[in-house]
Amino acid sequence: MSRDADQIWQALPVPAFLVNAENLIAALNPAAETFLNLPQKAVAGLGLDDRLGFDIDLKGDLDRARDGQAVLFHRDVMVTRPGDGALNCDVQIAPLGDGSGIMLVLLQPRRIVGQLGKALQARSAAKTAIGMADMLAHEIKNPLAGIAGAAQLLAMGLKREDQEMTDLIVQETRRIVDLLKQVEQFGDLRKPALKPLNIHDILERARITATLGAASAMTFADDYDPSLPQILGDGDQLQQVFLNLFANAAEAAGPGGGQITIRTCFEPGLRLGDASGGHAVPLQVEVIDDGPGIAEGLLDSVFDPFVSTRENGTGLGLALVSKIVSDHNGSITVTSRPGRTIFRISLPLAPRLKELN
Ligand SMILES: Nc1ncnc2c1ncn2[C@@H]1O[C@H](COP(=O)(O)OP(=O)(O)OP(=O)(O)O)[C@@H](O)[C@H]1O
Ligand SMILES: [Mg+2]
Repeated sequence: MSRDADQIWQALPVPAFLVNAENLIAALNPAAETFLNLPQKAVAGLGLDDRLGFDIDLKGDLDRARDGQAVLFHRDVMVTRPGDGALNCDVQIAPLGDGSGIMLVLLQPRRIVGQLGKALQARSAAKTAIGMADMLAHEIKNPLAGIAGAAQLLAMGLKREDQEMTDLIVQETRRIVDLLKQVEQFGDLRKPALKPLNIHDILERARITATLGAASAMTFADDYDPSLPQILGDGDQLQQVFLNLFANAAEAAGPGGGQITIRTCFEPGLRLGDASGGHAVPLQVEVIDDGPGIAEGLLDSVFDPFVSTRENGTGLGLALVSKIVSDHNGSITVTSRPGRTIFRISLPLAPRLKELN
């Protein structure tokens, strides 16, 4: 391999294998070593499907692509790694074209792609549900005011011990009115006023506010990529996003507290997709906590409105977060297990100043 080719091979961010004319592994790049969790010398000379399970006929495909000198592309292949679950990958098989019979096999894990698709679905479901809830809120608020008023009038003619009941009616109707106000506010959420801003400024502001209130029992750690370019965002709304995530982590941790790690990084390849190729969302912010994790069965619906496991939770926090992120043309995904819950927000960059004018 020439020096340039070797550098590209080493830097390639997806697992890549070279397979010789006998379909045995001749070389693998560092991403492939990480993917297999095995060093090159442990697998060189083995068949690719000795260590990995594929739900396609890999040897047959290698032979066909080699014979036809053609590139084969498989979408959604289940690849099983030693000691690990199956992973959904796109598999590309290409001849090197130098007559040696050596084939290049690229694996592109699709986990993130699939999750982003799910996030998009959740987003539109949330929008419909919020629209309906907003309409209902308008309709319910007026009669509720009537009920509370009537209970108060009734209370005047009652003995002290019977007033407990009317007090309960008044208190509970107030609670419903408060909830409805929140729903209405949610429906009213204005479009973000987008300005170029530094995400770390927003994160720091949110962190300080959270330490003074909702997340006072938590310790914070950060892992910032200081070279990140600016994003186009509404500072107040984004701050609300992070405050909600910090508050949720603190509530999950309980009074004993726990740790929240805020991580930022740049992933140039990440796109939010539709058929036309979508748009890039390269700026990543992860809010990671070491709490008990999201309750089983809840992971697919946490962004839906009114989903809550907390006694006094409205279940609107994450629905709001998801709406704001989507208004910023970004996406949010979550993974969770006990001890490690990660909310990841992917955002587009601000266009360069030249493009803005
Ligand atoms: N970091 C987390 N760890 C564990 N569970 C979480 C975490 N974040 C969210 N959840 C779960 O998701 C649910 C929904 O969160 P969401 O913020 O939408 O509503 P809430 O916190 O219950 O109420 P609200 O934010 O409206 O007061 C929570 O009730 C909780 O069960
Ligand atoms: Mg919340």
